[in-house]
Amino acid sequence: MNVVRVAIAGFGGVGRATANLLLARRSRYRQVHGADLRLVAVCGSRSGLADADGLEAGRLDVLEPGLSGPAFIEASGADILIEAGPSDFRTGAPGLPYLRSALSAGRDAIVISKGALVHSGPELRALAGSKGAMLKLSGAAAAALPTIDLLEHSLKGCEVLEIEGILNATTNYLLDSMMNRNHGFDEALARVQAGGFAEADPRNDTEGWDTASKLILIANFGLDAVLTMDDLVVEGIQSVTAHDIEAWRRQGLAPKLVGTLTRADGATRATVGIRTYPLSDPLAHVSGKNKAIRITTDAMGETIAIGSGTEPLATAAAALKDLEHILTARAARATGGQGRQE
Ligand code: HSE
Repeated sequence: MNVVRVAIAGFGGVGRATANLLLARRSRYRQVHGADLRLVAVCGSRSGLADADGLEAGRLDVLEPGLSGPAFIEASGADILIEAGPSDFRTGAPGLPYLRSALSAGRDAIVISKGALVHSGPELRALAGSKGAMLKLSGAAAAALPTIDLLEHSLKGCEVLEIEGILNATTNYLLDSMMNRNHGFDEALARVQAGGFAEADPRNDTEGWDTASKLILIANFGLDAVLTMDDLVVEGIQSVTAHDIEAWRRQGLAPKLVGTLTRADGATRATVGIRTYPLSDPLAHVSGKNKAIRITTDAMGETIAIGSGTEPLATAAAALKDLEHILTARAARATGGQGRQE
């Protein structure tokens, strides 16, 4: 049995959910991939745990102070890093040093937090490529909603002309509540915060930054673009008024906060802002905390995916989908069937 050692950096709700789901799926990994998965280290910002034989679920409740940081993860001997820390796209911290450290050593990385990838995505992608390491980010790029997977696999070979994404659950829930349940902005925001899927600072949702971050990741990792936040025009929903809501209702339109990416003549243009859809458009019916993506290509026309999933389980499952793709690629590599892939 092939032993595969995994470490998780960032041990809040999503990191813990990922650890628990990984441990619960070990028999699947053995059966499907012939892999003996061991969780050899976990850490938060100031504490952690490590065990070369593998940590069990019952041991994850109490972490030991002082066990944290990229050197701690390196010392664990992990083959694969899962990065699930807090996300700050303005600095890339705290995930960036963990990812640089893992990829520099040729270790595969699965990224759940967006910050480091938005801040330094092309650098990390190049680093992974130069070291023959795989870098996967489904958990960061809208999680349960397939985005990069669609571009990499389902639409392979097609030229992407446009992407439209309802990529942020919080703003979709807010607009839906204001339109269809007569909630005011503040009341709807309180409900969404109680639901646990708003960002720690909800302005990152309401002002469009979370949507913009996901759009950048989809562009840079799904389409090989090199967009930064400075390339985007970003507008949120914070200025929506009762008057706007009433007008959209009267006109039979559904407002959505949408990240849009258009490609023409080799140039990529990306924006985030409110779009309104007639009820004949499937995107008008993406309700509550659901998300959606519509990809228009030259040869396959329009493809739409709509999805949700409950945080943090859905995000953990998205990251572990990446893990299974890595296990498949590692197995192919081991048998000489396929070279390393990014
Ligand atoms: N705050 C995000 C959302 C969840 O509402 O979609 C994490 O990406």
